[in-house]
Amino acid sequence: MHVNALQNCLLLGLAISQFQPALTQETPPSQCATGVHAILMRGQGPGDHLNVMVSVQNLVLQLIPGSSSVALPYSHGADDHRVAASNGTYMMQDYIRSYVASCPDSKIFIIGYSLGGVAMMDGLCGTSSQWLFKVPAIEPHFNQNVIAAVSYGEETYVPGLSYDHGTCTDGTGIYPRIHPEWCDPFLSSIRSYCDEGDGSCCFRFLPPITDPAHFLYIFRYNMEVIQFVQQRLKATQSQ
Ligand SMILES: *[C@@H]1O[C@H](CO)[C@@H](O)[C@H](O)[C@H]1NC(C)=O
Repeated sequence: MHVNALQNCLLLGLAISQFQPALTQETPPSQCATGVHAILMRGQGPGDHLNVMVSVQNLVLQLIPGSSSVALPYSHGADDHRVAASNGTYMMQDYIRSYVASCPDSKIFIIGYSLGGVAMMDGLCGTSSQWLFKVPAIEPHFNQNVIAAVSYGEETYVPGLSYDHGTCTDGTGIYPRIHPEWCDPFLSSIRSYCDEGDGSCCFRFLPPITDPAHFLYIFRYNMEVIQFVQQRLKATQSQ
C-alpha cells in the first residue's frame, strides 16, 4: 500500500519530467547510458509507442541516474498477433545489437507488456510456441549487456518456472512456451509477472474468460521491478 501510494505520487510528479528518451540506437559514446538503457515494449493496439509504459520510463529516468530509454516502435497496431510479435522480436534484437555496438559496456533493461512481453521473451529465448511465427534467439553473449528483462502478463507464460513472478500458479498463456529452457542464457535477468485473473497469461479452459488483472501490473509491480533493476545493476557492476 505504501508502495502504491509512492508510485502514484511518482507517476503524477514525473509526467513533466525533463528527461528526453533516446531516439536512435546508434549512440555517440558520450551519450551512452551510465545507468541503464531501457527498451520499452508496449502491448498490442493503436496509438503511440510508449502507451502505459510511460509509467516505467518515468521511474527508470528518475530513480536510476544516468539512464536513457526508448519506446520500441514495432508494429504493435497489427491485427494479427503473429505479425506484431515477430516484428517486435526482430526489432528488439536489432536495437540490442546496434546499441551494444555503439555502447559495448552498456547495461540494458527491457520490459515488455502483453504482446510486447511475448516479443521480448521470444527475442531472448527464441520462439517456441505453437502458431506464433518462429524467430531464433539473439546471440547469448548479449547476456553481458541485458541485465534485466521483465514481462507483464505475457501470453507465452508457463507456471512453475524459476523466472515466474506474480500469483498465477495453475493457468498458462494462450501461446504457452514449449522450450522455456532456451531462456537459460538470460535466466538471471528474466522475470515474467503473471497474476491470477489475467486470462491472457493465466488462462484455464473455464468460462467466463475475463482478464481484469491484465491491466493492473503497472500499479502492482513497477516499484518492485525498478528495485530488481537496481539490484541487477549492482550485481553486474564489475562485469
Ligand atoms: C516492423 O515494422 C516496422 C514498421 O512498423 C517496419 O519498418 C519494419 O521493417 C518491420 N520489421 C520487420 C523485421 O518486419
